[in-house]
Amino acid sequence: MKQNGEKIAMLTAYDYTSAKIIDQAGIDIILVGDSAANVMAGHETTLPITIEQMIYHAQSVVRAVKNPMVVVDMPFGTYQGNSKLAVSNAIRIMKEAEADALKVEGGSEIIESVLTIISAGIPVMGHLGLTPQSIHKFGTYNVRAREEAEANKLIEDAISLEQAGCFALVLEKIPAEVGKRVAEILKIPVIGIGAGNGVDGQVLVMHDMLGLTQEFSPRFLRRYHDLHQEMLKAVQNYIKDVKDKDFPNDQEQY
Ligand code: KIV
Repeated sequence: MKQNGEKIAMLTAYDYTSAKIIDQAGIDIILVGDSAANVMAGHETTLPITIEQMIYHAQSVVRAVKNPMVVVDMPFGTYQGNSKLAVSNAIRIMKEAEADALKVEGGSEIIESVLTIISAGIPVMGHLGLTPQSIHKFGTYNVRAREEAEANKLIEDAISLEQAGCFALVLEKIPAEVGKRVAEILKIPVIGIGAGNGVDGQVLVMHDMLGLTQEFSPRFLRRYHDLHQEMLKAVQNYIKDVKDKDFPNDQEQY
């Protein structure tokens, strides 16, 4: 798709019903993101989600999906600092969830783990820029790689991940110019979230783009619907109908 100039559309999903809808819509890649920790479980960061919880979400998505590639995030603590542990966790996710590929956050500091996972025959997608699993190192969710030194380190890391054998790379919340440069340098597709229009594809968190979440409003987020309002209205109508003894009516009972 990159070679043909066709942009790649990727969205998150964590459950069977949503995955079925976005597959039907024609999405290219579904990401079972560790953002499930935020939008599904209500945690402030992505750190608490466990490998068992990620496998549960991934299994639900894989059961629904016919066409798109399913990529699963390796959760925090399952691949950093120990490549043997990384490959055994990667194999466990691939075996139990039957996913197509895994995603990991970081550059040179995790390259050993990336190489070991790929050597087991598992396709790996990298993730650079704002890497939410490192929130306690960064201290904020602000735009990354604004300074030249950090942009240069990001480019070096992107090249290292490609050389290690990653098949694609996510770039999160970085200047559009840096996103474009990385996409021009790399042969593998670069998929952006807040990385501008010069990359090879885009990814959004489904709950954010559908307007189910309200409190999260970064500049890069385009909301395609206000499902929060729609859902609120529907539930209020249901409550009213029950209280008014209007539901169920004659046709809605046996
Ligand atoms: O977990 C996630 O949803 C992600 C995307 C934001 C890229 O990693």
